[in-house]
Amino acid sequence: MILNNTPLQTLHADFAGLTLDEALIALRQRFDGRIAFSSSLGLEDQVITDAIFRNGLDIDVFTLDTGRNFTETYDVLDATRQKYGKPIKAFYPQTAAIERYVTIKGINAIYESVENRKECCYIRKIEPLNRALQGAQVWITGLRAAQSTYRADMNLFERDEQRGLLKFNPLLHAVTSDLWTYIRKYDIPYNKLHSEFYPSIGCAPCTRAVAVGEDERSGRWWWESHNQECGLHDGTRAPVRKAA
Ligand code: ADX
Ligand code: SF4
Repeated sequence: MILNNTPLQTLHADFAGLTLDEALIALRQRFDGRIAFSSSLGLEDQVITDAIFRNGLDIDVFTLDTGRNFTETYDVLDATRQKYGKPIKAFYPQTAAIERYVTIKGINAIYESVENRKECCYIRKIEPLNRALQGAQVWITGLRAAQSTYRADMNLFERDEQRGLLKFNPLLHAVTSDLWTYIRKYDIPYNKLHSEFYPSIGCAPCTRAVAVGEDERSGRWWWESHNQECGLHDGTRAPVRKAA
């Protein structure tokens, strides 16, 4: 069955109410193309990785190593590889692009303008993501509605028109306490920074701890006054940005 042609309404009806394990198994059974899961190694992504590996599903797990991750994030990558003994493919920025950017603009030009910050995100995350998703029919993410108002109106299934694939957000309606229940139940490795008031973890220079009561994503690109997004998930809403 070619799931990519299935109306989104049908998919929503068929997958609503399934557990994470059931949803991932059903996705794999109903679709015969390449399915790829992008893991930032954050809490929700660790839960999805566990479900994929524990159920032995033929789904590619990959991560975008921006080169500016926290040491604690690399610890999660190592612990996950050790626990499951399965590959997590790492994608890196193009050497020439990052060399040019850092040489001309400087390693911390991200703080100087939104344009510089977005260009860094494009080089370190979006271009590698586009490569990682090549040949994939379905892209699984750990996006959750509770993370922000921007994400609150996302759907379980979406079409990423820019990349020509189907996007599946199986934990869209999960809340943080659900995730911790999974983490403890299956003894899943997690980022120690989550216990130090870092609910959302991206690159080290662009992530800080949040105060009690603050939004989950308020520690991301905190110096910018609006839009705590890097553009990774713009494909369903706006054109994929080209490098400057
Ligand atoms: S981001 O767009 O602000 O960076 P966030 O950290 O909330 O996103 O993660 C949302 C989802 O985007 C993750 O569940 C994951 O699917 C994907 N993602 C984000 N960062 C990465 C990364 N470095 N590598 C792979 N996937 C990522
Ligand atoms: Fe660059 Fe920060 Fe974006 Fe990471 S989150 S790619 S360091 S701007």
